Amino acid sequence: MSYTVITGASAGIGYQTAHAFAERGKNLLLTARRENVLLSLKKELEETHSIEVHVFPADLSETEQVYDFYQKLEDFELETFINNAGFGHYNPITNQELPRVEKMLRVNNEALTILSTLFAKDYASVEGTQLINVSSNLGYNVIEGSVTYAATKFYVSAFTEGLAQELTSSGSSMKVKILAPAATETEFAKHAADVDQFNYEENFKQYHTSVEMAQFMMALYDSDLTVGIVDGSSYEFQLRGPIFPYISK
Ligand SMILES: NC(=O)c1ccc[n+]([C@@H]2O[C@H](COP(=O)([O-])OP(=O)(O)OC[C@H]3O[C@@H](n4cnc5c(N)ncnc54)[C@H](OP(=O)(O)O)[C@@H]3O)[C@@H](O)[C@H]2O)c1
Repeated sequence: MSYTVITGASAGIGYQTAHAFAERGKNLLLTARRENVLLSLKKELEETHSIEVHVFPADLSETEQVYDFYQKLEDFELETFINNAGFGHYNPITNQELPRVEKMLRVNNEALTILSTLFAKDYASVEGTQLINVSSNLGYNVIEGSVTYAATKFYVSAFTEGLAQELTSSGSSMKVKILAPAATETEFAKHAADVDQFNYEENFKQYHTSVEMAQFMMALYDSDLTVGIVDGSSYEFQLRGPIFPYISK
């Protein structure tokens, strides 16, 4: 039995990605903070597919909980690891609340780095393994009003592209990839803008649904390329090689 790990599986892209992997018959290990949502997702997926789903509620902004979560995964043979959990903070830097910024750095960067590193240390030489980290179109473009969030995603893109390059040059079996969505209708904007309701239709000229984004995730999963990015102007999904310059020794 091998398993696909998805962080941030209680909503949006992670929730639909769990459905997409379940449709492929993949056993799942899911995390997010909302245990009740994870449990009903587990029930639904186990009733509709012949798979096993285990849930591990955790707050990934707490370093200790990140390590505890990975330790719980040590009872399972992992095949794919998707670091999807993350959130944004719309505001000019001078208006940002630092406790929220600190939390964003811990979830978007610290947790992703710890989990990617532990997974790569344990599985880099295992044939068929994949690590997919969710960055953003803003992991390659800085935008007014979301500079700190974009910077967290630049980190995700640079770290993940760099890991992909290192593992390729050392002949490792693991494939490392980046999904870089543009605006996608999820709970993301509501949290980033700190509002109760957010209307994507009124605020974005174009956007994808989380079901579409999960299909792009699967196209990236099936591909040999490193980056799956939504073009910020055309909204086309493109599969391509690494974007950042990389200096090998
Ligand atoms: N939607 C977009 O327009 C967009 C565009 C580009 C990139 N992205 C990226 O896509 C990824 C998924 O976002 P989404 O759009 O699907 O947003 P979402 O609907 O808000 O989902 C975010 C997920 O992350 C989890 N999460 C947030 N804080 C957490 C914490 N402290 N500990 C554990 N889990 C946490 C949430 O679960 P709980 O609340 O239950 O903890 C939820 O499952 C993020 O990395 C985001 O930056 C989104």
